[in-house]
Amino acid sequence: MYPLDVPAIRIFEVGPRDGLQNEATPVPTEAKAAFVRSLAAAGLAEIEATSFVSPKWVPQLGDAQALLAELGPMPGLSALVPNAKGLERALETTIGRIAVFTAASNAFTLKNIGMDVEASLAAFAEVIGGFRAARLDGWVRGYVSTAFECPYAGRIAPDHVAKVCDRLLDLGVDEISLGDTIGVAVPAEVRSLASSLTHIPKAKVAWHFHDTRGTAIANVAAALELGYNVFDASAGGLGGCPYAPGAGGNLATEDLVYFLERSGLETGVDLGALARASLPVLDRLGRKPAAKAQLAALAG
Ligand code: HMG
Ligand code: MG
Repeated sequence: MYPLDVPAIRIFEVGPRDGLQNEATPVPTEAKAAFVRSLAAAGLAEIEATSFVSPKWVPQLGDAQALLAELGPMPGLSALVPNAKGLERALETTIGRIAVFTAASNAFTLKNIGMDVEASLAAFAEVIGGFRAARLDGWVRGYVSTAFECPYAGRIAPDHVAKVCDRLLDLGVDEISLGDTIGVAVPAEVRSLASSLTHIPKAKVAWHFHDTRGTAIANVAAALELGYNVFDASAGGLGGCPYAPGAGGNLATEDLVYFLERSGLETGVDLGALARASLPVLDRLGRKPAAKAQLAALAG
């Protein structure tokens, strides 16, 4: 069992965004809305629903405004916003939480958003300023992708990741999410990165693991033992990034919930309801459920 000084766990569900952004088969807006509603009904309080990115780059999420209109106001919803145009679109909706996203490597940000890290931070200053002015109680997350390794630039030094985190915090983000974008990290690397982040309050740091090589739960365990309590995950293990070759699915939310609950840490999530939440979407994508704890929950 984990020490009692682990604060309340927060699970940040990214399936509707990170999961669906990479799928070739289009999912209708109503089906996405039903997915989000099922996830909320299963007890997930924070859900990244979509992205206000260019529909030319990510057509899968081109219906962001329609989706949010369909969902109506929901307190825990968030969406990615890369630039001023994305902010303009986001502010036409009721969204109260946004995420900006850069990386620890210029090579990745150039492929992902057509800007180097410095240019992305300049764009985010404008996005965050505009968002705060429009949403006085708004909440902003800042992603740092390739926090362990970049598919183009190789391994990334923890001190370098820390510098990008500091720049995002200087811009006023409420939380950093550290992305193991291509799912390579192992627990020793989590400890090593954390040792470069000791100046940042742990409650401001989320861990975003992809489970490409089956190491995501081991990495969660390492972060938990260090006192971190915020974890990103994707229902049914959906996921990947179109600009990160080899990025497999995200850590499945079912695997995360099972692991946490079995470890004596409450999540507030009904595992059975969660296991069923992604089934209609998986069906549309022509896939069978594959996440281990999801399969076990469906069988039980
Ligand atoms: P760009 O083409 O360089 O933008 O895209 P531009 O400013 O040159 O504009 C070109 C056209 O796009 C213009 O339209 C703009 O109005 C339009 P035109 O005049 O040609 O008709 N445009 C937009 N339209 C709608 N919404 C917008 C927008 N911006 C410009 N926001 C841009 C730059 C950043 C938009 C583009 O590169 C982009 O959309 N990239 C997004 C890529 C993406 O979504 N990647 C996946 C998310 S990140 C991830 O998955 C990692 C993460 O999970 C963590 C981890 O795992 O590590 C978060
Ligand atoms: Mg991701």
